[in-house]
Amino acid sequence: MKTVSILIAVVFVALVSFNLAKLDDRLRNILKQHKVEKLEQPAAVNPAKVALGRVLFFDKILSGNKDVSCATCHHPGLRSGDSLALSIGVGGTGLGLWRKMGEGRTRIPRNSPEIFNRGASEWHTMFWDSRVSGTVATGFKTPADEKLPEGFDNVLAVQAMFPVTSREEMRGEIGDKDIFNEQNELALISDAVPQSVWQAIMERLLAIPEYQELFKAAYPDTPKENLGFQHAANAIAAFEIEAFTFTNSPWDRYLAGNNKSISNAAKRGALLFYGDANCVACHSGTLMTDQKHHNIGIPQFGPGKENAIPFDIGRFAETGDKQDRFAFRTPPLRNVTLTGPWMHNGAYYQLEDAIAHHLDAAKALRQYDLGQLEPALRETYKGEEKTLERILETLDPLVATPGALEESELQDLMAFLSTLTDPAALQLNLHIPPKVPSGLPVENMIDRKNKNDYNADGK
Ligand code: HEC
Ligand code: HEC
Repeated sequence: MKTVSILIAVVFVALVSFNLAKLDDRLRNILKQHKVEKLEQPAAVNPAKVALGRVLFFDKILSGNKDVSCATCHHPGLRSGDSLALSIGVGGTGLGLWRKMGEGRTRIPRNSPEIFNRGASEWHTMFWDSRVSGTVATGFKTPADEKLPEGFDNVLAVQAMFPVTSREEMRGEIGDKDIFNEQNELALISDAVPQSVWQAIMERLLAIPEYQELFKAAYPDTPKENLGFQHAANAIAAFEIEAFTFTNSPWDRYLAGNNKSISNAAKRGALLFYGDANCVACHSGTLMTDQKHHNIGIPQFGPGKENAIPFDIGRFAETGDKQDRFAFRTPPLRNVTLTGPWMHNGAYYQLEDAIAHHLDAAKALRQYDLGQLEPALRETYKGEEKTLERILETLDPLVATPGALEESELQDLMAFLSTLTDPAALQLNLHIPPKVPSGLPVENMIDRKNKNDYNADGK
């Protein structure tokens, strides 16, 4: 009798281990097929550039009214985003969930994306519509066309040229006074000459002795009169790479060969992601994005963008290609558990809802729960039948056919997405400088979940 039970136990253990081994084999096979590899650490960045970029990133002197910095919308304490569905730019006050609109201002039409791992060499697109794209080798395509200077280190640096020219994000409107009640000289410049905006910001920066020193240390061979905002942009990119690169998530350890770094539920989730659920059709490659544009039927709300107001037609505004209507660039997914609300406009506040949306996009669009949005955004929701039909007209075929997942499978997918979080990405506050050369206040907050824990002084 005893021998029989031992035998059964041995067979059972053998079967379980065999199955587990099979799980890893199957997963590694499918990863190989899809050429999914561990995220590599980008080449080391020059510490003098990082030091300059770090203060530039936090210095509100870059904004017309001296009231907004890059960190306002990509704060380390907010996991390189701003925690809002749609960002609040010029004229706003406060940080994160406590940020308030300035009087008479409009909302930024899109969600401020996390900016993790944007220094990876694979990146060749920036923004939800990729309006900035290219590489050092191929050259860059941007809204500034031939007005863009030369000498960029990467596409991330090119991106940094544009928040400062945007009136809503940083520059301000004609007639604006800055926080000291002085005229905002950046806002007076015509939109047609972004190069004059860049030059005017450099004049502000180089009037400050500490910036002269920092630029000299970062660019010892460039005489002061040859420094342009592209040098500032390269430094900002160097800081973004230094602060926001994370290559040690449990998933990256799994990809590096460690079978024990993730749970079995996560492995089953990965098998779904790269197999039956076919998330890999768009969230492909090492960065988990094809860097292409898809309309997956996300609801329309917010002020809308440029020529399409009150709608945001996404990539279509760049290409005029009908298939690109309401299409947005596939987001990468590392650290995705930390970066809600999700989607190009922050339509979802629960990661599970963001995933579930893909499984029956048309139904999710029609049954969208407005309750999750702030009241001010609810009022801008465009849910008329005509609009819904227009959105669904160009829905990506990959999400057009409903795909069912059992509740347990959804949980497995969630377990997988959790393995994409690098624990170090939870501790970003160390990148906040105590002060910046302009002497303007540095936005700070203690990274806590509960809004009552927040102290406006950052203490
Ligand atoms: C008022 C909020 C705001 C400010 C200030 C701001 N950003 Fe952003 N950022 C956004 C939003 C919103 C987007 C997406 C816009 C879009 O896709 O059209 C974005 C996009 C980006 C991206 C592109 C990421 C990607 O995956 O394509 C990077 C990088 C970035 N910002 C860096 C910066 C830097 C550097 C600064 C300062 C020079 C800055 N941002 C200032 C809100 C802001
Ligand atoms: C047809 C291409 C496509 C497929 C297939 C796809 N996605 Fe997406 N995914 C996108 C696009 C595009 C967005 C952004 C859409 C927008 O904001 O308008 C997105 C957004 C997301 C987001 C939100 C990320 C963020 O930072 O806002 C998550 C999470 C996500 N997808 C997970 C998945 C999972 C899990 C699957 C498989 C079940 C999947 N996706 C399948 C294209 C796709």
